[in-house]
Amino acid sequence: MFKSIFCFIFLYIPIDTLQKNTSPSPRPNFLIIVADDLGYTDISPYGSEISTPNIESLASNGGTLFTDFHTASTCSPTRSMLLSGTDHHLAGIGQMSDMTERYPKLWGGKQGYEGYLNDRVAALPEILKDLGGYQTMMTGKWHLGTVKEQIPSKRGFERSFALIHGAGNHFNYEPAVATERGGFALNPPLYVRDDEFINHTALPEDYYSSDYFTSELIRFLDEGDERSFFAYLAFTAPHWPLQAPNELIEKYKGKYDAGPDALRAARLERQRQLGLLTRNVDSMRVSTNETSWKFMLDDERAFSAKTMEIYAAMIHRMDDSIGRIIDYLHRTNQFNNTFILFMSDNGAEGVVLESLLLQSIDQSVTYFNNSYENIGKNTSYISYGPQWAYAAMAPYRMAKGHITEGGVRCPAIVHFGPLTSTSTSRSV
Ligand SMILES: *[C@@H]1O[C@H](CO)[C@@H](O)[C@H](O)[C@H]1NC(C)=O
Ligand SMILES: *[C@@H]1O[C@H](CO)[C@@H](O)[C@H](O)[C@H]1NC(C)=O
Ligand SMILES: *[C@@H]1O[C@H](CO)[C@@H](O)[C@H](O)[C@H]1NC(C)=O
Ligand SMILES: *[C@@H]1O[C@H](CO)[C@@H](O)[C@H](O)[C@H]1NC(C)=O
Ligand SMILES: *[C@@H]1O[C@H](CO)[C@@H](O)[C@H](O)[C@H]1NC(C)=O
Repeated sequence: MFKSIFCFIFLYIPIDTLQKNTSPSPRPNFLIIVADDLGYTDISPYGSEISTPNIESLASNGGTLFTDFHTASTCSPTRSMLLSGTDHHLAGIGQMSDMTERYPKLWGGKQGYEGYLNDRVAALPEILKDLGGYQTMMTGKWHLGTVKEQIPSKRGFERSFALIHGAGNHFNYEPAVATERGGFALNPPLYVRDDEFINHTALPEDYYSSDYFTSELIRFLDEGDERSFFAYLAFTAPHWPLQAPNELIEKYKGKYDAGPDALRAARLERQRQLGLLTRNVDSMRVSTNETSWKFMLDDERAFSAKTMEIYAAMIHRMDDSIGRIIDYLHRTNQFNNTFILFMSDNGAEGVVLESLLLQSIDQSVTYFNNSYENIGKNTSYISYGPQWAYAAMAPYRMAKGHITEGGVRCPAIVHFGPLTSTSTSRSV
């Protein structure tokens, strides 16, 4: 659980070593990487067929792979716990942050449901900056408050580039923004850089979320000073809308033609081979209202398989990005002194997009082209549905949004050289 892991970090590093001007030895850097709706077995250390060598290198070269790591069942509650070290109700995110705004009669004015990281908790970067003398920076998804007093720069981040809400278009094609107020994904403004709200039209032509967040974080690190750093990289991949560079989608072509049940079986078998599951564990069977693979028409199968190919390509690209950060840390000789945590924020997303009460669904009809040929591109807007999500969460039950193991059990990897060196090694 978060508490145990963050208490652990602070136990391990005595508080006086975090205070300014004390120890001459370099204090550790922290790099916290969060993936968005990444399923338990979606990366190779947990049994995935998707290429994730960089994440795997964190686990295999002296890192620790967590097999019993739990989060909240959705995004902003988890992020509020991660950044405050406390229960998400205390932190003001008793419910998804957007819900208070959307349903004020239900949640408005209720303590614990403010819908933003409230002022009764200290944010981790505030503590590290003020008490520890750290430089603090973040890029990626925020989802912990939308107005000026609630943005990353007001919660301890000296440098930031953030997607304020969730579910942004990965290629920054946001046709509805200028024309109407849509669902939460499309409420302008969408981005903030330090104290400035950013018009999404001001972003580069070749914008792709994972690439851009990573490049910006590397730039912040590069422009940083001699203080140790706390860096938070919050990808929005592989959250829908499913979109990835075309050449990567091509790499996964045909890989999922046997359907979600076959993927589920393969992931389970791989977990057994890796020793993550014993032979006698039975996988929970979950029924959905989707047409099962067996009864799908050929073109329905092809479409569904392609949604999974795109999803895989998104994870592949996120791993490439993590490789760029790891390279940067090696190049600047900081890798060994950087505590790296990689985690997902909740289980894989099993919702049927069309069932969400989002304006973006109408918009998807009006503004998007979800033909087989076009999905994965900037002008498409799709998710992959419950069966693929359940395959990523097996043997556990259900997926994101449920307080079942499939909603709250997440991949997590910690890499920090001194933790595993013989003199300081402890079991985590
Ligand atoms: C964002 O840019 C578009 C296109 O240039 C413009 O129409 C719109 O008014 C801008 N919005 C804001 C908030 O600046
Ligand atoms: C299937 O649909 C029924 C009726 O709409 C609903 O009550 C049920 O919860 C759905 N089941 C799942 C697993 O989504
Ligand atoms: C980093 O740690 C590894 C493993 O302990 C060691 O082989 C390597 O020399 C260290 N690199 C630096 C730059 O200290
Ligand atoms: C949708 O996209 C595909 C391929 O990108 C294209 O061939 C097709 O004409 C588009 N459909 C519409 C209605 O624009
Ligand atoms: C979508 O991306 C293509 C390049 O892949 C680009 O040529 C096109 O202009 C983009 N469309 C929109 C509406 O942004």
